[in-house]
Amino acid sequence: MLNENADIDGILVQLPLPKHINEELVINTIDPSKDVDGFHPMNVGKMVSGLPTYVPATPYGIMLMLEHYNIDTKGKHAVVIGRSHIVGTPMSILLSRNTQPGNCTVTLCHSQTKNLKELCLQADIIVAAIGRPDYVTADMVKEGAIIIDVGINRVADASKKAGSDW
Ligand SMILES: NC(=O)c1ccc[n+]([C@@H]2O[C@H](COP(=O)([O-])OP(=O)(O)OC[C@H]3O[C@@H](n4cnc5c(N)ncnc54)[C@H](OP(=O)(O)O)[C@@H]3O)[C@@H](O)[C@H]2O)c1
Repeated sequence: MLNENADIDGILVQLPLPKHINEELVINTIDPSKDVDGFHPMNVGKMVSGLPTYVPATPYGIMLMLEHYNIDTKGKHAVVIGRSHIVGTPMSILLSRNTQPGNCTVTLCHSQTKNLKELCLQADIIVAAIGRPDYVTADMVKEGAIIIDVGINRVADASKKAGSDW
């Protein structure tokens, strides 16, 4: 087993899994000390508690990007669109931590959020992780706001041989 193999330091499960495989069961089987994605409940718990642990790569990368560009996030209103355990939820936790970057007031939006446009217009920082292209439009963004587009979407493009933009 990979968990017991001392030559294996980290285990990543490429998600999503086919429907007949129980994702939760697979993730929970990974030794938390090798769970480099930070998806195991033990590591999620540590992240929420602010303890050192593996943190999901995409939100962590966004935190590093904010740091790299010297974005002062303290006291800013961050609107995170999408609440997946891979992106949106950990993003909301990291942005709300007492750290720099961090110290944001975070609004976590999802498909049941009623007033998304109004919330986005109040945002100093928007992180869009919805999985739908062109969803956040210019009229939803206030002047000077920082927008981080997490989405990776194939957009139909008849002029391309593949029929999409990539
Ligand atoms: N750049 C990267 O490294 C990276 C990494 C991972 C993912 N991604 C991309 O990021 C995107 C999101 O990925 P994911 O895994 O988080 O997706 P996901 O699991 O499908 O989650 C999408 C989230 O968006 C919410 N949502 C859907 N429609 C909405 C709407 N109309 N208004 C507000 N919220 C809405 C959903 O709400 P409910 O919870 O209510 O359904 C859900 O929480 C995808 O395009 C994916 O390819 C990029």
